[in-house]
Order: sequence, then C-alpha cells, then structure tokens
Amino acid sequence: MDYEAALNENIVIIGHGQFGYTLFNGLINSGMTTFHLTHKAKIPENTTLVINCVPSKHQHKLLQTQRNTGYSGIVIDTSQTSIKPSLNTVSPTPLFLKDDFYAKAFGDLSSYDFAEINRQAKQTFIYAKSAKVFNRISSITKLLNIEPVFINPKTKNLEKVLNERYNRNFPNTLTASIFSAIVFIICYIYMFIRAVPPVGHHNFDDMIMHEMQNVCAWVAVTLFSTCFVLGSIGKLLPKPIGSRIFINLLNSRAQIGLYAAAFAFLHVIMMVVEFNESSYGKYYYPDSNDMQWWAQLIILFGALASLFIIPMVISSFAGQWSRKEWFILQPVCGFLVIIFAGSHVTIIGLPPNKAGWRDLFGGSGMPSPSFFAGMACYLAIGFRVLVFVVEKCCGLPEDKGLQGYMKVGSEDKEDEKRGVRNEGFA
Ligand code: HEM
Repeated sequence: MDYEAALNENIVIIGHGQFGYTLFNGLINSGMTTFHLTHKAKIPENTTLVINCVPSKHQHKLLQTQRNTGYSGIVIDTSQTSIKPSLNTVSPTPLFLKDDFYAKAFGDLSSYDFAEINRQAKQTFIYAKSAKVFNRISSITKLLNIEPVFINPKTKNLEKVLNERYNRNFPNTLTASIFSAIVFIICYIYMFIRAVPPVGHHNFDDMIMHEMQNVCAWVAVTLFSTCFVLGSIGKLLPKPIGSRIFINLLNSRAQIGLYAAAFAFLHVIMMVVEFNESSYGKYYYPDSNDMQWWAQLIILFGALASLFIIPMVISSFAGQWSRKEWFILQPVCGFLVIIFAGSHVTIIGLPPNKAGWRDLFGGSGMPSPSFFAGMACYLAIGFRVLVFVVEKCCGLPEDKGLQGYMKVGSEDKEDEKRGVRNEGFA
C-alpha cells in the first residue's frame, strides 16, 4: 500500500545544491517519477509533491510563491533549522501554520544519507498537519531506507521539539569538552610545576612533547576512570538525582570516553616517536639490547589497553547494537581498558630497578602522574566492586527512566518538578 502510494507520486525537487542533487538521484534510483527544477521554474501541473531543497531563509517565501502560482499539493521544507525562526519573520500568521499541505522533513539528514542507502536505517522527524500527508511522505522516505518519525502537530512544545531535533549540535558534547579541558589544564599545570625548574630538572622544551605525552596519558586514564566512577555513583545515589551538573556529566560519559580515547591516541603516537634505547635505557638489561621483563609488560599492557579502546570508539559512532552487544562493547571493553591501563601504570610506578611509588615524595616532592593515574584506575575498579556488592547484598536504589537525557523537553522547570527518574547507568 505504502509502496503503491509512493509510485503514484509525481515529485519535483527544487534547489540545485548538493542536497537537492543527491535526493533527486536517490529518488530516481529507487524508481520514482521525479523532476529536478530551479526555484524560478513553474511547477508542472500533474505534480503531487514538491521538495524544496533551498536555504532555510528562502523556504517560506518559496512556499508562498508556489501557492500564489496555483500549486496546492504537498510542499516539504527540508531546511536544517526548525520552523521557529520563521515564526518571527512571517507575519501576521505564518503561512505554513494555516497550510494543510506544508510539511517538514529531511532537514535532520545529510546528503550522504541519500547518496548511500545501503546502510543502517536513518530516521527523519516529519512535521505534517495530518496523518495522511505524513503517510504519503513516509512511503517515499522508506524507499530511501529512512524511517519516518511523526511529530504530531498537537505535540506540546512543538517548536521546542523541532528546534531540538533540527538545530541539535552534538548534545552533551559541551559538558564533556568543558570537563576534559579542566582535567587537561589541571594535569598540565601539575606536570609543569613538577617537571621544570625550580621544582623539577627538565628543560622547558620538554613541556612541548616529552612531558605533554605523559600528560595526555594521565588525562586519558583520568577521563576513562571518571566515566566508570560517575556511573557507579549514579547507581548508588537515590533517584531522582538532584544535581543537574552531575546528571549532565552522567549523560556525557560517551563523549568523555571519546576524549579519553583521543588523549590515549596522542600518548601512544608521541611515545612511539620518542621511544629509543638511549632515552629508555633503564628498560634494557645493562649492556644489552634485550628489554627487561617488566619493561616488556609495560609495553604489552599499554598495547592491550589501546586495543580495547578501539571497539569502544568504533561502536560509539556506528551501529544499532543489541543490549548484549552494547554491554560487551562499552562496559566490558571499558573495564578491560581500566584493568590494562591500571597494570601499565602500576609496573611503571613500581619497577624492580628504582623506588618509584615506594618513595612517593622523593625527588621533586610531588608524586608522579603515574601514581595518580594508578589511583584513578583503582578507584574505578573499587567503585565497580562496591556497586556489585551493594546490589547483591541490599539492592540498588530504584532506577527508572532517563533523567535529563538528551535535551528534548528536559530543561523545563516543569520536568524538574515532576522529578523525572533516572537512566540505567551501565
Ligand atoms: C601501544 C600502547 C602504549 C605504549 C607502548 C605505552 C608506553 C608507555 C611508556 C613507555 C610509558 C612511560 C613509562 C616511563 O616513564 O617509564 C608510558 C606511560 C604511561 N602510559 Fe602508556 N603506553 C601505551 C598505551 C597507553 C594507554 C592506552 C594508556 C591509557 C589508557 C596509557 C597510559 C599511560 C600512563 C598513565 C602513563 C604514565 C605517565 C607518567 O608517568 O607520566 N598508555 N606508556
């Protein structure tokens, strides 16, 4: 039925940007009757559906012109911005609000989604005044392997829903960026004080790469551990959780983990570049090219930690995983990263041939970053064990719903009053 409806449409695409071209090609390739015209061309008489692929500021004017020249079928506004800005610019009553055949779709997709349909399904949120119009648009989106989501025009906060969907800009990334930047700045300043004169004995030049590489390693471990510690605290706290900052951090764990992976990547790259026998002579048996067993373990554990970061990063970007797959790709791989990074820094801190952590305040009087990195790993593991024990012995606080998750409808005072419950903390 859907498919039949799609085949009966005579579609016109307006706009010669990349978006218009790829959408046109996508529809033609799926066997649709489609014409590609400029905004000045007259819409052919038998047209049933027009898709306007022009910049958002021209959308409503174009709609007006199309109506004035007698076209009365469906018009799809594909702009990336929500309809909200137009509410202010079109007066007295925005045309589209009165127009039964105005719809908004595709603005939350990119040209790539039309160019390559042999991929996992994408979604587009469709605003349409009636279910009939929605169904007709859906029958087309499905041909492009795009799942339609109906935004009921009677939805409370319609503008807000559209705005959050279409104007979305990496939700949760801001919190993760601020948090990661703060951790990096603190670690860098600590390293600066510890490494260079008057406290340390390294050259100032070393702050560019040699010490920076250590800072990156330290930040990576701290951020990875933070994700675990936050999740564990989230599980232990009574719900709903009161602190908005804490909720934001909880909801930013995926992005914090990606920052952690980026810092670990920097550490590995810089380490590989600077690793040589003369700088790391202590790793080798005296007067030999053979690396000592504990030094080999350092490298092995570092490499294993790096290995388990890879599935976490890839799975963060791609795929619709089952819950079991997600559990293995994130909490399980993440825990292995913590275990291997913890082992990596423990041997760095406690090598058989020097005091290391055994003389924590020796040398510069400031503990080495490997010590703090080790503590972060132990804390993360300790919290996990605590959650496990509490869960087994007396059960965790009830945990339903997704508190403040995504930004849609979550910033209202009203929501806070209702006390939305908490997300499942993995
Ligand atoms: C192939 C991968 C890796 C190699 C070869 C490697 C190697 C090393 C080496 C040689 C050191 C210096 C030890 C010293 O100063 O004696 C080091 C330090 C460190 N690495 Fe790695 N590493 C790798 C991956 C990782 C990963 C993935 C992490 C974190 C998730 C990490 C975290 C650390 C930390 C925290 C330090 C201590 C920094 C300091 O003491 O200032 N490493 N690594």
